[in-house]
Amino acid sequence: MGKKIEFFKTFVKDRDVASVIPTSPRCVKKVCTNIDFSKDFTLVEYGPGNGAFTHYLIENMSPNSRLILIEANQNFVSALKDSIDDPRVEIHNVLAGNVESVLSDELIGNVDYVLSGIPFSFLEWDRKIEVLQATKKILKDDGKFLAYQTSGHLKKPVMEVFGNFETDFEPLNIPPYFIYKIHKNGH
Ligand SMILES: C[S@@+](CC[C@H](N)C(=O)[O-])C[C@H]1O[C@@H](n2cnc3c(N)ncnc32)[C@H](O)[C@@H]1O
Repeated sequence: MGKKIEFFKTFVKDRDVASVIPTSPRCVKKVCTNIDFSKDFTLVEYGPGNGAFTHYLIENMSPNSRLILIEANQNFVSALKDSIDDPRVEIHNVLAGNVESVLSDELIGNVDYVLSGIPFSFLEWDRKIEVLQATKKILKDDGKFLAYQTSGHLKKPVMEVFGNFETDFEPLNIPPYFIYKIHKNGH
């Protein structure tokens, strides 16, 4: 309960948080069925907030997997740093559009998954394209981009940059989410 209240307080101060409470465990599990936890992977998470997905990923990922968190809100970054002590995890206080600035050269083009909860609907068209192009660049050839969003507005910019998407819908979350699954190379 404490985590939900902290999340709500941060939402009140920062409109980019976009949701009043963290994503439900049911929705987290549904999105994460798109991730193969039996293999080592590198996953970049945009907008981890207070860690609804992050903690599930940490519990389920292999010892050699890596998780790189990209969070704009300093309160969330501090809370994540306080609650996570795991050598597999890095936490960065930058915008998703600047993700390349915190990745080492060998990781650019070698990321297996990007998982995103940032509210794309709040971004201008050019900023959306910038985040999507950076995402495409850091993913490996058979990498996947997974995004949970409150509406279908991501379809157009995703088609422009990636040329493909599949969507699923999770109605039993507050807010209900569209779940996008996008392949780097359009298959
Ligand atoms: C809808 S909340 C999702 C939080 C959490 N992942 C969850 O599912 O409960 C959106 C998160 O994205 C962060 N955010 C918004 N815009 C961002 C950006 N451009 N780059 C990185 N993080 C961003 C917010 O601070 C917030 O933590």
